[in-house]
Amino acid sequence: MIPQDFVDQLLSRVDIVDVVDRYVPLKKGGQNYLACCPFHKEKSPSFTVSPSKQFYHCFGCGAHGSAIGFVMEYQGLGFVDAVKLLAENVGMTVPQSVRSADPVAEQAARVRRLSLEEFLQQAAGYYKKQLKSGPNAVAYCKRRGLSGEIAARYGLGYAPDGWQNLAEIFTDYQDERLVETGLVILHEEGRRYDRFRDRLMFPIRNQRGGIIGFGGRVLGQGEPKYLNSPETPLFEKGRELYGLYEARLGIRTHNRVLVVEGYMDVVALAQFGVDYAVATLGTATTGEHVRKLMRHADHVYFCFDGDRAGQKAAWRALENSLPQLQDGKSLHFLFLPEEHDPDSFVREAGREKFETLLQEQSLPLSTYFTRELTARVDMNSPEGRADLIRQAMPLLAQIAAPALALIIKKRLAELAGIDVDEFDMLMGQKKPERKGKREYRLPAGSVRPVQMSIVRRQLKWLLMNPLWAEDVQMPDSLTLSDELACFAMLAERAREHGAEPTTAQMIESIRGTPWEPLVDSVLQQAMQDPEEFAAPDDDDRLQFRDGNEKLLRLLRDAELDRLKQKSRSERLTTEESKLMLELLSRKT
Ligand code: UTP
Ligand code: MN
Repeated sequence: MIPQDFVDQLLSRVDIVDVVDRYVPLKKGGQNYLACCPFHKEKSPSFTVSPSKQFYHCFGCGAHGSAIGFVMEYQGLGFVDAVKLLAENVGMTVPQSVRSADPVAEQAARVRRLSLEEFLQQAAGYYKKQLKSGPNAVAYCKRRGLSGEIAARYGLGYAPDGWQNLAEIFTDYQDERLVETGLVILHEEGRRYDRFRDRLMFPIRNQRGGIIGFGGRVLGQGEPKYLNSPETPLFEKGRELYGLYEARLGIRTHNRVLVVEGYMDVVALAQFGVDYAVATLGTATTGEHVRKLMRHADHVYFCFDGDRAGQKAAWRALENSLPQLQDGKSLHFLFLPEEHDPDSFVREAGREKFETLLQEQSLPLSTYFTRELTARVDMNSPEGRADLIRQAMPLLAQIAAPALALIIKKRLAELAGIDVDEFDMLMGQKKPERKGKREYRLPAGSVRPVQMSIVRRQLKWLLMNPLWAEDVQMPDSLTLSDELACFAMLAERAREHGAEPTTAQMIESIRGTPWEPLVDSVLQQAMQDPEEFAAPDDDDRLQFRDGNEKLLRLLRDAELDRLKQKSRSERLTTEESKLMLELLSRKT
């Protein structure tokens, strides 16, 4: 790791205009510099470099970043090498300790991870062997219709009954790595025992094929039905997908990936020749999942059970997908008949019928989106249609694919009986014309910008104008959403920054953190509106301040609602009561 301080200093020494100009000759245009974008083909320049923000971006393709990001992209370098290269250019030395400690520490961490993977690998081998000699488990597999071939392909195994079976293969049962991998549970009183006992075992692999965890099913009835490995340094449920490694070829061949809910579904589908299915790990589909899936295929199909739980899971998946959508990729939702899951359906109907269903009955995201929203309101009354618009607005604002967002908006406007311009006006998108400020035009053929949710808008403004951090106040007492927490964190960082922080420094300060994808998508979305890049005026600053007030109000209202709700069913703690009183008094 390179210390953040060093990155910060480096960014205040190099000038992104010099850096870019070395590779891509720049022309001055207003306060910024322009060129034809090196990252996509274009005839008129929409690649822009801002000396004040130390930030580049392209209105055409959405590429953006700091000087470090540019060198990484342009030269195809990793972060460390890009930093070294830039440091050399301005005569700075990457801290010595870092240089030497870096490979050692990195190596140690890698070795540790590999050794954890090795432990899981050994356990998987053991479980696999036990399956052969465990008559109950074999009988269960047969009853579920699993072929030996498919069981081998997915490396299924059996964890026998008993408390310390793993001691058979791990001579040191006290080894902490057994606990760290989640194979062994360390009881409070110091006793240790196997996590998985008398269960059919599904090894979960990462993209390289290394085993990172297990899901274990009871044979027959029992609670919990599935026991999963806990989150470990190797295993993060919000990122991993069961079966991705095994399905990678099928996914590539079909340019399609199918997301189902269960381990058994994946395995059964594969047995019947649907070899491009993966499952989430008993958790909701996250944005990170969707990003990963869209990297593997252009067409992503979600298949949910027809019951209420399935409906809910589908809508969650849709919500989490919106910020990840890209024009050129498609998402579909298939709901199975209520009594079925993919496993039972494919066994009953076979592959062909299943795939026909997938092709013919699945709803494109846009259709599912409008269908679900219109079903929630009374479309026959003006009030119902107004409610439709109200509910749709924050969701639309999150869609990262501009063309798709526009098409959905048009459709909704039509259904509600208004036109798109009126819709835009409702979404607060029409700003009064700014005279003399418009320096950039949207490249021909590109689509109108999408309105952002208020938090994202504030976040964007803060990223573009880190000095405005002094206007931000986020109370510690309230629960912050991810986006708000990111906003508060960046504001704090900007305030603590000794000199005047730039956009580039803001971006680099979150590189490698969980906020990176969020900030990235906010910037990407911001790039759809060229005006965002022009120097802000007092009016913008006022709007930013207003936005903060509004955020605070929303936050307080949400907290108040939560406390009220809670107070109906249980006693509030003293702190909560105090907070509630304070919030109530603010309201009047
Ligand atoms: P289901 O209960 O729908 O499982 O849970 P399934 O795959 O159809 O299982 P079978 O057919 O009864 O064997 C779907 C997924 O939810 C997670 C697992 O990942 C499971 O595959 N789950 C379910 C758990 O993590 N724990 C549970 O107790 C139940
Ligand atoms: Mn099932």
